[in-house]
Amino acid sequence: MFAGYASEANPSDPLAALAVGDLPEPAVPEGWLRIKISHASLNRHDIFTLRGITAHPEGISFPMILGNDGAGSLDDGTPVVIYPVLGSDEWRGDETLDPNWHIFSEFLPGTFADYIAVPKRNAIPLPGGLSALHASVLGTAWLTAYRALFTKSALRPGQSLLVQGSSGGMSTALIQLGHAAGFEIWTTSRSDRGRALAEKLGAHRTFNFNEKLPRKVQAVIDNIGPASWAHSMASVARGGTIVITGVTTGLEVPLPLLPMLSEQITVCGSIMGTLQDMKDMMNFIVNSGITPEIGRVLPMEQAEQGVRAMWEGPTSGKTVFTR
Ligand SMILES: NC(=O)c1ccc[n+]([C@@H]2O[C@H](COP(=O)([O-])OP(=O)(O)OC[C@H]3O[C@@H](n4cnc5c(N)ncnc54)[C@H](OP(=O)(O)O)[C@@H]3O)[C@@H](O)[C@H]2O)c1
Repeated sequence: MFAGYASEANPSDPLAALAVGDLPEPAVPEGWLRIKISHASLNRHDIFTLRGITAHPEGISFPMILGNDGAGSLDDGTPVVIYPVLGSDEWRGDETLDPNWHIFSEFLPGTFADYIAVPKRNAIPLPGGLSALHASVLGTAWLTAYRALFTKSALRPGQSLLVQGSSGGMSTALIQLGHAAGFEIWTTSRSDRGRALAEKLGAHRTFNFNEKLPRKVQAVIDNIGPASWAHSMASVARGGTIVITGVTTGLEVPLPLLPMLSEQITVCGSIMGTLQDMKDMMNFIVNSGITPEIGRVLPMEQAEQGVRAMWEGPTSGKTVFTR
């Protein structure tokens, strides 16, 4: 079958590790389902896979089919979207707390392919009002944004949120979901284009990257890491929360203990979301009429163009590959 995959790990030149071509169809174990992919979306995680930087130190075996997220149809024609979190069969409760959790394209082949095999529970029937195109972007960046906003940030509607970054998949998801929920949304961006996009999607105010805010906010969601960390610390109000959801610019930041304790700042991490989070988010999107921002739709054969845009320059919301 056709697939877009990482042929090896290349830490400094992920594009050199990207390949498209024929790979064997994945085996479909007993109790699993085969999905014919129609749409698959790109995440920063695919770049981390191409670079060999993974949350799972056990490592990835190459070639590895890329793609955490996608939508398509079962063999009987039922349209479905993929819930990307996998884990132990015996685990019950919050899937993100399963010590054996992982996502597609780490140990199992991903969505950039004609077919993917998934456990039954990972194939969610598409609700009316959600196209396969828009559903295909919801699994990773959007799911993480939903949980960070509604489980981790401790915000109530009407309270203020700073989203670090504007143009990316997760930042646009945070802006669109947060706007629909009635939060006061401020964002930063490195570009005029990013700020204009944030305003179009419902941000109330936008700022240059690391620009001092006129007042502090009740929560910050930071998916950038070291490049925005000091600004996130300086922007959160007493008693507020910083939710860390990404590490685009590196893995280490200094922790200023005195302001954290004297101003009672909560700093927490958030990763992916539960199956119930994904179902609830899909209902929220349909009920509130959100159209997830998609900046680029390309045939999967042209995956290199989409990956290059994410690696070299700003994107606008999500990138989707079609079959
Ligand atoms: N915790 C989780 O479960 C989870 C899930 C999904 C993603 N993530 C992580 O979240 C991060 C964002 O993922 P994404 O898919 O949204 O990526 P993306 O689409 O490439 O977006 C990158 C974002 O980072 C901002 N940015 C600021 N400084 C940057 C810099 N120096 N280089 C690159 N971008 C910079 C961009 O904002 P402007 O262009 O507006 O400045 C943009 O909003 C990644 O680290 C990813 O691994 C984590």
